[in-house]
Amino acid sequence: MYQVLYRKWRPKIFDDVAGQPQVTVTLKNELQSGRINHAYLFTGSRGTGKTSCAKIMAKALNCLSPKEGNPCGECELCRGIDDGSVMDIAEIDAASNNSVENVRSIIEEASFNPAKAKYRVYIIDEVHMLSVGAFNALLKTLEEPPAHVVFILATTEVHKIPATILSRCQRFDFHRITPEAIAQRLRFVAEQEGLTLEENAALLIASVSDGAMRDALSLLDRCAGTDKNITVSVVQNTAGLTGHDYLFSITDGIIRKDTGSILAIIEQLYHESKDMGRLCYELIEHFRNLMMIKTLNKTTTLLTFSDEEKTKMKKQADTLTLENILYATDILQSGYDKISRGMNKRTEMELSLIKLTAPELEVSVSALLDRISVLERAVKRGISVNVSQVSETDNDNINPESPSLPSAENQPQENQRNIPRPMGTTMDYDEIVKNAVLMKDWSEVLKVLKTHSITMATAFKNTKAYISGDYILIDSDNELTFKRLKQPEERERMRKAVLEVTGRVYRLGPYKKSGKQSTQQKDAMTELLNTARNSGIKVQEE
Ligand SMILES: Nc1ncnc2c1ncn2[C@@H]1O[C@H](COP(=O)(O)OP(=O)(O)OP(=O)(O)O)[C@@H](O)[C@H]1O
Ligand SMILES: [Mg+2]
Ligand SMILES: [Zn+2]
Repeated sequence: MYQVLYRKWRPKIFDDVAGQPQVTVTLKNELQSGRINHAYLFTGSRGTGKTSCAKIMAKALNCLSPKEGNPCGECELCRGIDDGSVMDIAEIDAASNNSVENVRSIIEEASFNPAKAKYRVYIIDEVHMLSVGAFNALLKTLEEPPAHVVFILATTEVHKIPATILSRCQRFDFHRITPEAIAQRLRFVAEQEGLTLEENAALLIASVSDGAMRDALSLLDRCAGTDKNITVSVVQNTAGLTGHDYLFSITDGIIRKDTGSILAIIEQLYHESKDMGRLCYELIEHFRNLMMIKTLNKTTTLLTFSDEEKTKMKKQADTLTLENILYATDILQSGYDKISRGMNKRTEMELSLIKLTAPELEVSVSALLDRISVLERAVKRGISVNVSQVSETDNDNINPESPSLPSAENQPQENQRNIPRPMGTTMDYDEIVKNAVLMKDWSEVLKVLKTHSITMATAFKNTKAYISGDYILIDSDNELTFKRLKQPEERERMRKAVLEVTGRVYRLGPYKKSGKQSTQQKDAMTELLNTARNSGIKVQEE
């Protein structure tokens, strides 16, 4: 009969246990020196070797010829324990035996001397499932255990164990196993099984198993079922790791602050029956990967991804700041928590993503950090932004004589406390208009503007804007709109909104399609540009 790999390859001695030296070395030393405790608690995440070590321990305690703390595996007792004929060793699943009666019968039995073995060993697995009464019954025995009894309690959920129990046990924490240690064990098992396992395929299995050896061995098993020659692509297909384009698209949408396109992707995934909780989890992982690339600046650990995907990730990581990434992770994580608590999955997923495209909706510290990082990006581009300056909205020192057109961006008298002036080359107005392209983010700018001033947002409601070099040209049929921009505070607010959305400081001006442009406006514009040129402001050539 076929035995699944993880059962077949359960470690038989401490030396076979991968990646838990803090447990195995200590236990071996204690066994060798005869310092035996009466209660051990093995905790840690699933599939990391708790039950395996408890079984090894039971044998090592009783083995007739132990080798450096390991059971020999061959003596009468080792074999008897393996085939279950030695009744002194009991494995109890607390999940199904959690009552006071269950524990009482164990305790009663424990008082008898062992029949064959040196120690009666009780392995209580999933011990956190015991009822309160059962814990209390167990506690009495743990306080005064008979000399020949050893309890080994195992659990993934140590926080559910009463402190009174904890304090009577020697505790061992099983760690998530490193990908390297898992891969090494996988290669060993593969070799024994006559499978070919590529180096990177082993690492890939290890990295998707999240530190759990059981999961790794089951995946190896499934891969072997498809192909005896296990390559990276066999693993990718078996583990369903292909086709994650949507993660990249959603992230691009977040970068562009393009709520519409993100909601469209969600809509589509939803109709393809994609689980929204799963999607949220994948996005968290995606941002985690971006953070790793950002901080470690390497993609070699990203085994699950093709080279093409790695290049894309690198690009996304470069575009985002660490604060952006942390902020996104934070928002997605709380979205995920809500989804896990049973909230409407789709709504929560959408809400989280909207928050990410419009951080101005959030007033949390992380949202503010995210907004600051936008400003910092601006600084990196050579624009001197001082956050406290940016937060100023009153421009009491603005020169009332500032130029007459709203496009005036280079008033020499403009005070230091304002949004910094854009830098770059100055161009002819015709030239600017010729190169202007419709600004997609304009609606976002207006949304941000609304958070600063509702009346202003209303005045600009049906406007469009065009980008050309360092300029944003605003198109409106209403002259009053431009009048507003003549007000220093209003112009300041507009520039700030633009900065928040684009991360850049732009010059603002009116958009007049060529031909339609009046000479008066053209003159005013030229005059403005001249003012700027003559103002002594350093105009940088890019
Ligand atoms: N550290 C390890 N070294 C080698 N193999 C391991 C290790 N941990 C787990 N395994 C493999 O995974 C299987 C399950 O391990 P085990 O039952 O010991 O895990 P566990 O920690 O008790 O998990 P759970 O919390 O789910 O009960 C074993 O049969 C073995 O094949
Ligand atoms: Mg177990
Ligand atoms: Zn033995």
